[in-house]
Amino acid sequence: MSILSGKRILLGVTAGIAAYKTASLVRLFIKAGAEVKVVMTPASKDFVTPLTLSTLSKNPVFSSFTNEEDENAEWNNHVELGLWADLMIIAPATANTMGKMANGICDNLLMATYLSAKCDVYFAPAMDLDMYKHQTTTDNFNKLSSIGNKMIPAAHGELASGLVGEGRMAEPEDIVEYISRDILSQLPLRGKKVLITAGPTYEAIDPVRFIGNHSSGKMGYEIAKAAARLGAEVNLISGPSHETVSNITAINLVKVTSAQQMYDEAHNYFEDTHIAILSAAVADYRPKNVANQKIKKKTETFSIELEKTKDILKSLGEIKSKQFLVGFALETNNELEHAKGKLESKNLDLIVLNSLNDKGAGFGVSTNKVTFITKSNLVLEQELKSKSQVAKDLLDQILNQLHA
Ligand code: CTP
Repeated sequence: MSILSGKRILLGVTAGIAAYKTASLVRLFIKAGAEVKVVMTPASKDFVTPLTLSTLSKNPVFSSFTNEEDENAEWNNHVELGLWADLMIIAPATANTMGKMANGICDNLLMATYLSAKCDVYFAPAMDLDMYKHQTTTDNFNKLSSIGNKMIPAAHGELASGLVGEGRMAEPEDIVEYISRDILSQLPLRGKKVLITAGPTYEAIDPVRFIGNHSSGKMGYEIAKAAARLGAEVNLISGPSHETVSNITAINLVKVTSAQQMYDEAHNYFEDTHIAILSAAVADYRPKNVANQKIKKKTETFSIELEKTKDILKSLGEIKSKQFLVGFALETNNELEHAKGKLESKNLDLIVLNSLNDKGAGFGVSTNKVTFITKSNLVLEQELKSKSQVAKDLLDQILNQLHA
Protein backbone atom coordinates (compact mmCIF):
# COMPACT_ATOMS: atom_id res chain seq x y z
CA MET A 1 0.00 0.00 0.00
CA SER A 2 1.29 3.43 -0.88
CA ILE A 3 1.92 5.97 1.83
CA LEU A 4 -0.29 8.27 -0.25
CA SER A 5 -3.28 5.97 0.10
CA GLY A 6 -6.23 7.91 1.53
CA LYS A 7 -4.35 11.21 1.43
CA ARG A 8 -6.23 14.28 0.21
CA ILE A 9 -4.01 15.99 -2.30
CA LEU A 10 -4.64 19.46 -3.63
CA LEU A 11 -2.82 20.03 -6.89
CA GLY A 12 -2.22 23.61 -8.01
CA VAL A 13 -1.44 23.97 -11.70
CA THR A 14 0.15 27.13 -13.10
CA ALA A 15 0.91 28.26 -16.63
CA GLY A 16 4.03 26.46 -17.76
CA ILE A 17 4.54 24.06 -20.66
CA ALA A 18 5.07 21.30 -18.08
CA ALA A 19 1.39 21.65 -17.10
CA TYR A 20 0.64 18.88 -19.62
CA LYS A 21 2.53 16.49 -17.32
CA THR A 22 0.01 17.09 -14.54
CA ALA A 23 -2.32 14.63 -16.28
CA SER A 24 0.20 11.86 -15.48
CA LEU A 25 0.75 13.28 -12.02
CA VAL A 26 -2.97 13.10 -11.21
CA ARG A 27 -3.10 9.53 -12.53
CA LEU A 28 -0.18 8.49 -10.34
CA PHE A 29 -1.76 10.05 -7.24
CA ILE A 30 -5.08 8.32 -7.95
CA LYS A 31 -3.30 5.01 -8.60
CA ALA A 32 -1.59 5.39 -5.22
CA GLY A 33 -5.04 5.62 -3.60
CA ALA A 34 -5.08 9.38 -2.97
CA GLU A 35 -8.05 11.72 -3.40
CA VAL A 36 -7.17 14.59 -5.70
CA LYS A 37 -8.66 18.04 -6.24
CA VAL A 38 -7.17 20.44 -8.76
CA VAL A 39 -7.00 24.23 -8.70
CA MET A 40 -5.70 25.88 -11.87
CA THR A 41 -4.62 29.42 -12.58
CA PRO A 42 -6.69 30.84 -15.47
CA ALA A 43 -3.64 30.98 -17.77
CA SER A 44 -2.71 27.34 -17.13
CA LYS A 45 -5.86 26.27 -19.01
CA ASP A 46 -4.00 27.11 -22.24
CA PHE A 47 -1.61 24.24 -21.47
CA VAL A 48 -3.89 21.49 -20.15
CA THR A 49 -7.68 21.37 -20.11
CA PRO A 50 -9.77 21.35 -16.94
CA LEU A 51 -11.78 18.52 -18.52
CA THR A 52 -8.69 16.30 -18.68
CA LEU A 53 -7.84 16.96 -15.05
CA SER A 54 -11.41 16.67 -13.76
CA THR A 55 -11.84 13.35 -15.59
CA LEU A 56 -8.61 11.94 -14.20
CA SER A 57 -9.10 13.30 -10.68
CA LYS A 58 -12.83 12.38 -10.65
CA ASN A 59 -13.49 15.80 -9.09
CA PRO A 60 -14.48 19.20 -10.44
CA VAL A 61 -11.55 21.44 -11.26
CA PHE A 62 -11.52 24.97 -9.81
CA SER A 63 -9.96 27.99 -11.44
CA SER A 64 -11.93 31.05 -10.34
CA PHE A 65 -13.87 32.18 -7.31
CA THR A 66 -17.10 31.62 -9.22
CA ASN A 67 -17.98 29.93 -12.46
CA GLU A 68 -18.72 33.00 -14.62
CA GLU A 69 -20.62 31.08 -17.31
CA ASP A 70 -23.17 29.81 -14.84
CA GLU A 71 -25.68 32.36 -13.59
CA ASN A 72 -26.42 30.20 -10.53
CA ALA A 73 -22.73 30.10 -9.90
CA GLU A 74 -21.61 29.10 -6.45
CA TRP A 75 -18.68 30.56 -4.58
CA ASN A 76 -15.64 28.27 -4.79
CA ASN A 77 -14.50 28.42 -1.22
CA HIS A 78 -10.72 28.59 -1.09
CA VAL A 79 -10.69 28.30 2.71
CA GLU A 80 -12.58 25.01 2.56
CA LEU A 81 -10.29 23.72 -0.18
CA GLY A 82 -7.24 24.71 1.81
CA LEU A 83 -8.52 22.98 4.93
CA TRP A 84 -9.64 19.88 3.03
CA ALA A 85 -6.12 19.07 1.89
CA ASP A 86 -3.64 16.82 3.70
CA LEU A 87 -0.99 18.19 1.37
CA MET A 88 -0.73 20.70 -1.42
CA ILE A 89 1.56 20.48 -4.42
CA ILE A 90 1.98 23.29 -6.90
CA ALA A 91 3.28 21.82 -10.15
CA PRO A 92 4.45 23.29 -12.36
CA ALA A 93 5.31 26.31 -10.22
CA THR A 94 6.20 29.16 -12.55
CA ALA A 95 8.54 32.00 -11.59
CA ASN A 96 5.47 34.24 -11.50
CA THR A 97 3.54 32.03 -9.06
CA MET A 98 6.60 31.51 -6.86
CA GLY A 99 7.03 35.28 -6.70
CA LYS A 100 3.41 35.60 -5.58
CA MET A 101 3.78 32.79 -3.04
CA ALA A 102 6.89 34.38 -1.57
CA ASN A 103 5.18 37.76 -1.25
CA GLY A 104 1.62 36.82 -0.31
CA ILE A 105 0.11 38.22 -3.51
CA CYS A 106 -3.40 36.89 -3.87
CA ASP A 107 -4.90 37.60 -7.27
CA ASN A 108 -6.42 34.22 -8.16
CA LEU A 109 -8.14 31.23 -6.55
CA LEU A 110 -4.94 29.19 -6.42
CA MET A 111 -3.11 31.88 -4.45
CA ALA A 112 -6.07 32.33 -2.09
CA THR A 113 -6.11 28.56 -1.54
CA TYR A 114 -2.35 28.50 -0.99
CA LEU A 115 -2.64 31.23 1.63
CA SER A 116 -5.48 29.34 3.37
CA ALA A 117 -3.81 25.92 3.37
CA LYS A 118 -2.59 24.65 6.74
CA CYS A 119 -1.02 21.49 5.36
CA ASP A 120 2.47 20.83 3.98
CA VAL A 121 3.02 22.63 0.68
CA TYR A 122 5.36 21.31 -2.00
CA PHE A 123 6.23 23.10 -5.22
CA ALA A 124 7.92 21.83 -8.37
CA PRO A 125 9.44 24.77 -10.25
CA ALA A 126 9.50 24.81 -14.03
CA MET A 127 11.03 27.61 -16.04
CA ASP A 128 13.77 28.44 -18.45
CA LEU A 129 17.43 28.11 -17.56
CA ASP A 130 18.21 31.78 -16.95
CA MET A 131 14.97 32.39 -15.10
CA TYR A 132 15.77 29.44 -12.81
CA LYS A 133 19.19 30.91 -12.05
CA HIS A 134 17.98 34.47 -11.59
CA GLN A 135 18.74 35.99 -8.20
CA THR A 136 15.07 36.81 -7.55
CA THR A 137 14.14 33.17 -8.19
CA THR A 138 16.82 32.03 -5.74
CA ASP A 139 15.55 34.58 -3.20
CA ASN A 140 12.01 33.28 -3.64
CA PHE A 141 13.16 29.65 -3.21
CA ASN A 142 14.92 30.62 -0.01
CA LYS A 143 11.98 32.60 1.31
CA LEU A 144 9.57 29.73 0.59
CA SER A 145 11.92 27.19 2.21
CA SER A 146 12.25 29.40 5.26
CA ILE A 147 8.47 29.27 5.79
CA GLY A 148 8.46 25.48 5.47
CA ASN A 149 7.35 25.05 1.85
CA LYS A 150 9.23 22.20 0.22
CA MET A 151 10.82 22.55 -3.16
CA ILE A 152 11.03 19.56 -5.47
CA PRO A 153 14.08 20.65 -7.47
CA ALA A 154 13.85 21.07 -11.20
CA ALA A 155 15.76 18.60 -13.33
CA HIS A 156 18.50 19.13 -15.90
CA GLY A 157 17.48 18.57 -19.49
CA GLU A 158 16.07 20.01 -22.68
CA LEU A 159 13.84 23.01 -22.07
CA ALA A 160 10.90 24.33 -24.08
CA SER A 161 13.12 27.18 -25.36
CA GLY A 162 15.47 24.64 -26.93
CA LEU A 163 18.16 25.43 -24.38
CA VAL A 164 19.58 22.65 -22.28
CA GLY A 165 20.04 23.11 -18.54
CA GLU A 166 18.29 23.22 -15.21
CA GLY A 167 14.64 24.22 -15.13
CA ARG A 168 12.64 21.20 -16.33
CA MET A 169 9.89 20.29 -13.91
CA ALA A 170 10.69 17.07 -12.04
CA GLU A 171 9.03 14.09 -13.73
CA PRO A 172 5.64 13.06 -12.23
CA GLU A 173 7.14 9.77 -10.94
CA ASP A 174 9.91 11.72 -9.20
CA ILE A 175 7.40 14.15 -7.66
CA VAL A 176 5.38 11.23 -6.25
CA GLU A 177 8.57 9.60 -4.97
CA TYR A 178 9.78 12.83 -3.38
CA ILE A 179 6.50 13.47 -1.56
CA SER A 180 6.19 9.83 -0.44
CA ARG A 181 9.71 9.83 0.99
CA ASP A 182 9.13 13.12 2.73
CA ILE A 183 5.92 11.88 4.35
CA LEU A 184 7.65 8.67 5.41
CA SER A 185 10.53 10.57 6.98
CA GLN A 186 8.10 12.50 9.18
CA LEU A 187 6.13 9.53 10.49
CA PRO A 188 6.32 9.21 14.29
CA LEU A 189 7.00 5.44 14.31
CA ARG A 190 9.65 5.61 11.58
CA GLY A 191 12.48 3.21 12.46
CA LYS A 192 10.47 1.55 15.23
CA LYS A 193 9.69 -2.16 15.35
CA VAL A 194 6.28 -3.10 16.68
CA LEU A 195 5.31 -6.60 17.73
CA ILE A 196 1.60 -7.43 17.81
CA THR A 197 -0.24 -10.61 18.73
CA ALA A 198 -3.76 -11.03 17.38
CA GLY A 199 -6.65 -13.43 17.07
CA PRO A 200 -7.47 -16.60 18.95
CA THR A 201 -5.34 -19.66 19.44
CA TYR A 202 -6.54 -23.18 18.71
CA GLU A 203 -5.49 -25.95 21.06
CA ALA A 204 -5.69 -29.39 19.50
CA ILE A 205 -7.73 -32.16 21.10
CA ASP A 206 -7.14 -34.62 18.28
CA PRO A 207 -6.29 -34.24 14.56
CA VAL A 208 -9.71 -32.72 13.77
CA ARG A 209 -10.87 -30.97 16.94
CA PHE A 210 -9.62 -28.07 18.95
CA ILE A 211 -10.47 -25.69 21.79
CA GLY A 212 -10.73 -22.12 20.50
CA ASN A 213 -12.58 -18.87 21.09
CA HIS A 214 -14.58 -16.26 19.19
CA SER A 215 -11.81 -13.69 18.73
CA SER A 216 -11.80 -12.44 15.10
CA GLY A 217 -8.36 -10.82 15.27
CA LYS A 218 -9.80 -7.54 13.98
CA MET A 219 -8.48 -5.38 16.83
CA GLY A 220 -4.91 -6.63 16.44
CA TYR A 221 -4.98 -6.33 12.64
CA GLU A 222 -6.26 -2.74 12.93
CA ILE A 223 -3.42 -1.93 15.33
CA ALA A 224 -0.93 -3.47 12.88
CA LYS A 225 -2.30 -1.37 10.00
CA ALA A 226 -2.35 1.82 12.08
CA ALA A 227 1.25 1.21 13.23
CA ALA A 228 2.38 0.60 9.63
CA ARG A 229 0.67 3.84 8.55
CA LEU A 230 2.71 5.64 11.22
CA GLY A 231 5.90 4.25 9.69
CA ALA A 232 6.57 1.24 11.93
CA GLU A 233 7.92 -2.11 10.83
CA VAL A 234 5.36 -4.55 12.19
CA ASN A 235 5.65 -8.20 13.12
CA LEU A 236 2.08 -9.42 13.41
CA ILE A 237 1.78 -12.82 15.03
CA SER A 238 -1.69 -14.03 14.35
CA GLY A 239 -3.72 -17.00 15.39
CA PRO A 240 -6.36 -18.31 12.91
CA SER A 241 -8.23 -15.29 11.51
CA HIS A 242 -10.05 -14.23 8.35
CA GLU A 243 -8.55 -10.75 8.58
CA THR A 244 -5.95 -9.74 5.99
CA VAL A 245 -3.14 -7.20 5.73
CA SER A 246 -3.53 -7.02 1.91
CA ASN A 247 -0.26 -5.81 0.42
CA ILE A 248 1.14 -3.73 3.24
CA THR A 249 4.85 -4.43 2.95
CA ALA A 250 5.62 -2.96 6.37
CA ILE A 251 3.67 -5.81 8.01
CA ASN A 252 5.33 -9.18 8.40
CA LEU A 253 2.44 -11.57 9.04
CA VAL A 254 3.43 -14.68 10.99
CA LYS A 255 0.61 -17.20 11.16
CA VAL A 256 0.41 -19.54 14.11
CA THR A 257 -2.19 -21.88 15.52
CA SER A 258 -1.48 -22.70 19.14
CA ALA A 259 -0.53 -20.70 22.24
CA GLN A 260 2.86 -22.43 22.29
CA GLN A 261 3.59 -21.40 18.69
CA MET A 262 2.51 -17.83 19.47
CA TYR A 263 4.76 -17.87 22.54
CA ASP A 264 7.73 -19.07 20.48
CA GLU A 265 7.25 -16.50 17.71
CA ALA A 266 6.66 -13.63 20.17
CA HIS A 267 9.93 -14.51 21.90
CA ASN A 268 11.69 -14.77 18.52
CA TYR A 269 10.88 -11.17 17.70
CA PHE A 270 10.79 -9.55 21.14
CA GLU A 271 14.43 -8.65 21.63
CA ASP A 272 14.47 -6.53 18.50
CA THR A 273 11.15 -4.85 19.35
CA HIS A 274 10.49 -1.29 20.54
CA ILE A 275 6.78 -1.60 21.24
CA ALA A 276 4.89 -4.86 21.90
CA ILE A 277 1.10 -4.90 21.90
CA LEU A 278 -0.45 -8.21 22.90
CA SER A 279 -4.07 -8.23 21.83
CA ALA A 280 -4.45 -11.95 21.13
CA ALA A 281 -7.08 -13.97 22.95
CA VAL A 282 -4.69 -16.73 23.92
CA ALA A 283 -6.12 -19.95 25.30
CA ASP A 284 -5.31 -20.17 29.00
CA TYR A 285 -5.51 -23.99 28.97
CA ARG A 286 -4.86 -26.73 26.43
CA PRO A 287 -5.51 -30.48 26.41
CA LYS A 288 -2.76 -32.20 28.34
CA ASN A 289 -2.63 -35.06 25.89
CA VAL A 290 -3.43 -34.68 22.21
CA ALA A 291 -4.84 -37.85 20.64
CA ASN A 292 -2.97 -39.04 17.55
CA GLN A 293 -6.16 -40.24 15.95
CA LYS A 294 -9.69 -38.95 15.86
CA ILE A 295 -11.40 -39.73 19.15
CA LYS A 296 -14.41 -42.05 18.68
CA LYS A 297 -17.64 -41.47 20.55
CA LYS A 298 -17.77 -44.47 22.81
CA THR A 299 -18.73 -43.26 26.26
CA GLU A 300 -21.72 -41.24 27.50
CA THR A 301 -19.53 -38.60 29.07
CA PHE A 302 -16.07 -37.55 28.13
CA SER A 303 -13.52 -35.39 29.92
CA ILE A 304 -10.42 -33.73 28.70
CA GLU A 305 -7.68 -32.95 31.13
CA LEU A 306 -6.33 -29.47 30.56
CA GLU A 307 -3.03 -27.89 31.48
CA LYS A 308 -2.08 -24.23 31.61
CA THR A 309 -0.53 -22.60 28.57
CA LYS A 310 2.36 -20.19 29.05
CA ASP A 311 1.32 -16.59 29.61
CA ILE A 312 3.07 -14.82 26.73
CA LEU A 313 2.47 -11.31 28.05
CA LYS A 314 3.72 -12.15 31.53
CA SER A 315 6.81 -13.87 30.15
CA LEU A 316 7.68 -10.80 28.06
CA GLY A 317 7.10 -8.53 31.07
CA GLU A 318 9.67 -10.60 32.96
CA ILE A 319 12.41 -10.19 30.36
CA LYS A 320 11.65 -6.73 28.99
CA SER A 321 14.41 -4.13 28.97
CA LYS A 322 13.61 -1.03 26.93
CA GLN A 323 10.48 -2.37 25.24
CA PHE A 324 7.18 -0.58 25.78
CA LEU A 325 4.76 -3.38 26.68
CA VAL A 326 0.99 -3.18 26.21
CA GLY A 327 -1.56 -5.78 27.26
CA PHE A 328 -5.30 -6.16 26.89
CA ALA A 329 -7.70 -7.18 29.60
CA LEU A 330 -11.15 -8.52 28.90
CA GLU A 331 -13.17 -8.33 32.08
CA THR A 332 -16.75 -8.87 33.17
CA ASN A 333 -16.63 -7.65 36.78
CA ASN A 334 -14.47 -5.36 38.94
CA GLU A 335 -12.99 -4.32 35.64
CA LEU A 336 -10.69 -1.50 36.73
CA GLU A 337 -9.34 -3.37 39.70
CA HIS A 338 -8.58 -6.50 37.64
CA ALA A 339 -7.00 -4.52 34.81
CA LYS A 340 -4.77 -2.57 37.21
CA GLY A 341 -3.78 -5.85 38.83
CA LYS A 342 -2.69 -7.26 35.45
CA LEU A 343 -0.80 -4.07 34.60
CA GLU A 344 1.28 -4.53 37.71
CA SER A 345 1.66 -8.31 37.84
CA LYS A 346 2.67 -8.53 34.15
CA ASN A 347 5.02 -5.50 34.35
CA LEU A 348 3.20 -3.52 31.64
CA ASP A 349 3.48 0.12 30.57
CA LEU A 350 -0.14 0.31 29.47
CA ILE A 351 -3.21 -1.88 29.57
CA VAL A 352 -6.30 -1.63 27.40
CA LEU A 353 -9.42 -2.63 29.27
CA ASN A 354 -12.36 -4.09 27.38
CA SER A 355 -15.45 -4.62 29.40
CA LEU A 356 -17.87 -7.22 28.11
CA ASN A 357 -20.59 -5.22 29.91
CA ASP A 358 -20.24 -2.46 27.31
CA LYS A 359 -22.55 -2.74 24.32
CA GLY A 360 -20.63 -2.85 21.05
CA ALA A 361 -17.37 -3.97 22.67
CA GLY A 362 -15.55 -7.28 22.42
CA PHE A 363 -15.59 -10.17 19.98
CA GLY A 364 -16.92 -10.23 16.44
CA VAL A 365 -17.99 -6.57 16.23
CA SER A 366 -16.25 -3.76 14.39
CA THR A 367 -16.55 -1.35 17.31
CA ASN A 368 -14.91 -1.33 20.70
CA LYS A 369 -15.20 0.60 23.95
CA VAL A 370 -11.98 0.64 25.88
CA THR A 371 -10.24 2.31 28.77
CA PHE A 372 -6.51 2.98 28.69
CA ILE A 373 -4.75 2.59 32.02
CA THR A 374 -1.17 3.76 32.26
CA LYS A 375 1.64 2.73 34.56
CA SER A 376 1.30 6.06 36.35
CA ASN A 377 -2.33 5.16 37.07
CA LEU A 378 -3.94 7.48 34.53
CA VAL A 379 -7.38 6.07 33.65
CA LEU A 380 -8.58 7.26 30.22
CA GLU A 381 -12.08 6.08 29.43
CA GLN A 382 -12.88 6.19 25.70
CA GLU A 383 -16.16 6.47 23.80
CA LEU A 384 -17.54 3.60 21.69
CA LYS A 385 -15.51 3.81 18.48
CA SER A 386 -14.61 1.78 15.41
CA LYS A 387 -11.76 -0.65 16.06
CA SER A 388 -9.63 1.23 13.54
CA GLN A 389 -10.11 4.46 15.52
CA VAL A 390 -9.35 2.65 18.80
CA ALA A 391 -6.12 1.42 17.14
CA LYS A 392 -5.11 4.98 16.20
CA ASP A 393 -5.97 6.29 19.68
CA LEU A 394 -3.95 3.51 21.29
CA LEU A 395 -0.87 4.35 19.22
CA ASP A 396 -1.32 8.08 20.00
CA GLN A 397 -1.46 7.19 23.68
CA ILE A 398 1.71 5.09 23.40
CA LEU A 399 3.49 7.92 21.56
CA ASN A 400 2.36 10.38 24.24
CA GLN A 401 3.82 8.18 26.93
CA LEU A 402 7.04 7.55 25.03
CA HIS A 403 7.55 11.29 24.58
CA ALA A 404 6.42 12.27 28.08
N1 CTP B 1 -2.18 -13.29 27.31
C1 CTP B 1 -1.03 -13.88 26.81
N2 CTP B 1 -0.84 -15.21 26.94
C2 CTP B 1 -1.72 -15.98 27.62
C3 CTP B 1 -2.90 -15.39 28.12
C4 CTP B 1 -3.09 -14.03 27.97
O1 CTP B 1 -0.22 -13.18 26.20
N3 CTP B 1 -1.50 -17.28 27.73
C5 CTP B 1 -2.35 -11.83 27.15
C6 CTP B 1 -3.47 -11.39 26.28
O2 CTP B 1 -3.05 -11.25 24.93
C7 CTP B 1 -3.87 -10.07 26.90
C8 CTP B 1 -3.57 -10.24 28.35
O3 CTP B 1 -2.68 -11.33 28.43
O4 CTP B 1 -3.06 -9.01 26.42
C9 CTP B 1 -4.74 -10.47 29.24
O5 CTP B 1 -5.39 -11.66 29.00
P1 CTP B 1 -6.63 -12.18 29.87
O6 CTP B 1 -7.02 -13.51 29.39
O7 CTP B 1 -7.67 -11.13 29.93
O8 CTP B 1 -6.02 -12.27 31.30
P2 CTP B 1 -5.33 -13.42 32.02
O9 CTP B 1 -4.03 -12.90 32.48
O10 CTP B 1 -5.30 -14.65 31.20
O11 CTP B 1 -6.23 -13.59 33.31
P3 CTP B 1 -7.73 -14.12 33.48
O12 CTP B 1 -8.02 -15.02 32.31
O13 CTP B 1 -7.71 -14.80 34.78
O14 CTP B 1 -8.58 -12.90 33.49
